[in-house]
Amino acid sequence: MDYQWYPGHMTKARRMMQENMALIDLLIELTDARAPQSGRNPDIDTLAKGKSRIIVLNKADLADSALTESWRAHFEAEGILTAAVDSRKGSGVRQLKPLIDRACEEKIERNRRRGIVNRPVRAMIAGIPNVGKSTFINSFAGKAVARTGDKPGVTKGKQWIRLNKNVELLDTPGILWPKFDDQVIGMRLAILGSIRDEITDEGELAVWMIRYLMDAYPAALEERYGIGADESEGSSNPAACVLEKIALRRGCLKAGGEADLAKASKVLIDDFRSGRLGRITLERP
Ligand code: G4P
Repeated sequence: MDYQWYPGHMTKARRMMQENMALIDLLIELTDARAPQSGRNPDIDTLAKGKSRIIVLNKADLADSALTESWRAHFEAEGILTAAVDSRKGSGVRQLKPLIDRACEEKIERNRRRGIVNRPVRAMIAGIPNVGKSTFINSFAGKAVARTGDKPGVTKGKQWIRLNKNVELLDTPGILWPKFDDQVIGMRLAILGSIRDEITDEGELAVWMIRYLMDAYPAALEERYGIGADESEGSSNPAACVLEKIALRRGCLKAGGEADLAKASKVLIDDFRSGRLGRITLERP
């Protein structure tokens, strides 16, 4: 199976990103803490050239916290400030405002030296579909903030949210379309739910996921489904064997009593997405 994006969407999203990028000083790139690199656009460094940068690892509540720290260290080593947050509960979101001030220190100082004192820094949130952009903006900007709207000197038609006296946030998040030649990246994004389920093969995703779990998080299979590492020993296809066991143990059966692998695949992927499999990260730096 070929996990690819529709070129029309990609071109349009890229054009919009470029347009909006011209209006901002700071890019807040939202990424899924469970696959922080796979969901990034490889052109982002070019697109965001000259902008201050922050990477927010969202859904940190679902990710392996030790790996979240490794990923943060990895991005910080590239000179990008980072934060790990759970936008749904709002935890970690408060560290963003001081982080923005830090990321834009130079810009604010340069403005001040030029005598520009009332021009706030403008920021945009960007990320791939389903990463949690809307949830993050709601949690971050809250209800209390004013939507500044069209006012003189502010780009017409764009909605800006005033966060404090120094920062304005573009209300519409930018959509990033990851490009990938590597099919494993597509697998990770599909498992996260960032590629529409209709264009993915859940059976294939489930087998990939089981292989990954057997290697990186064997205890998750044991705890959730009671399938021990030794149970697929000797099988020529251990991952497929585990999927069948999941089907039998979770009562995913076809009319004849035979294992319903498609249904079991859905169960597994749902369990991962909702965190019922535990805190799991799909890639390491
Ligand atoms: P988008 O704008 O980038 O497309 O994403 P959106 O905010 O719509 O969020 C996509 C899904 O991810 C939503 O779940 C949302 O609740 C969930 N989400 C966002 N941030 C976090 C987070 O930090 N942790 C967790 N655990 N989940 C998060 P949904 O099931 O589609 O909707 P709902 O059931 O929450 O209404």
